Amino acid sequence: MSTPPDAPVAAPVPAGLMIGSLRVWPPTALAPMAGITTAPFRQICRRLRCGLVATELTNAEGLARRAPKTLHFLESWPDERPLAAHIYGHDPEIMARAAVVAEELGRFDLIDINAGCPAPKIMRRGEGAGLMKSPEKLKLIVQAVCSAVKLPVTVKTRIGFTYERIVISEVAQAVEEGGGAALFLHGRTVDRRHAGFADWALISRIKQERKIPVIGNGGILTAADALQRITEAKVDGVMIGRAALGTPWLFDEIAARCEGRVWTPPAPAEKIALLMEMVEGLVRLTEMEHKHRRRVHYLPEPSAVMQFRTHLAHLLRGRVHQRDLMRQCMSVKTVADVRAALEAVIT
Ligand SMILES: Cc1cc2nc3c(=O)[nH]c(=O)nc-3n(C[C@H](O)[C@H](O)[C@H](O)COP(=O)(O)O)c2cc1C
Repeated sequence: MSTPPDAPVAAPVPAGLMIGSLRVWPPTALAPMAGITTAPFRQICRRLRCGLVATELTNAEGLARRAPKTLHFLESWPDERPLAAHIYGHDPEIMARAAVVAEELGRFDLIDINAGCPAPKIMRRGEGAGLMKSPEKLKLIVQAVCSAVKLPVTVKTRIGFTYERIVISEVAQAVEEGGGAALFLHGRTVDRRHAGFADWALISRIKQERKIPVIGNGGILTAADALQRITEAKVDGVMIGRAALGTPWLFDEIAARCEGRVWTPPAPAEKIALLMEMVEGLVRLTEMEHKHRRRVHYLPEPSAVMQFRTHLAHLLRGRVHQRDLMRQCMSVKTVADVRAALEAVIT
């Protein structure tokens, strides 16, 4: 999947991505993923030159009340910035208060409003992708948040509900008119969730229609895909989700290609060390979470290792025939098991 060291490199990508006054370079972002984009993963993606990272989805109502359980979702570690606080809700006033709390924490460089989450319980309340039903309401929310904070405000959304109900032109217009500084646009409809075709032609059209930066998202698997999207769809940047799971060095490869440099992949031992650092970070983060929630009887290691299984599963893409390896990876319970699994997978 990666480029061999002697392969020709793409032409350098000229400009940086500007979100308000924030310069993002390289023009790449790690897509927010609930239960996955926690501090240890984000920290490693940033070290591997991902331009921007975002927190997990955080409930505005809990954040506005400064509920400790909610604040835990906004836990961040050194060297992660630029970092977006990714929040959801439906009430402009509560969203604005939540944004103020996030800004006061002093750890974030922008506030990102979720207008794309397809979970029925969220959509039913008019939150997440539910906001796409009413661009006017979304505009009010963006305006309220923009008036409450100094940080740039962005929106992450989708192209529509179904192919019969594409609403992105109106939604993008609402974000821009509300004062949004950029749009993160997932090129799939709500009914497709995270699967299937992402419509980059439509993403590209929205980029041409709007003045604010448009960062495209959906289905990018390789550095070549990322560069192709930037140069052909002419988006201001690309956001990557699942392709970075287990292989965060993808961002480093994209950075090298954006700069017209040849990229050398990390050696297997380096890859294992990076991923082990992530697992150990997840154990520390889970320990903190159990303390917050006073879960004295829970051990952090098994739940941290369980979270890491997603990364192992992605490392095994295309190797379904290796049943023993799959079994080993999907049954890891301790940090030592993870090391053994990584040593078997990354060779
Ligand atoms: C497990 C998982 C959790 C996700 N959680 C969120 C979320 O909390 N907020 C959001 O805006 N998108 C969320 N997404 C969508 C991603 O941000 C992204 O838009 C999607 O995965 C498409 O990008 P990709 O094809 O590069 O993975 C999630 C996706 C996955 C797979």
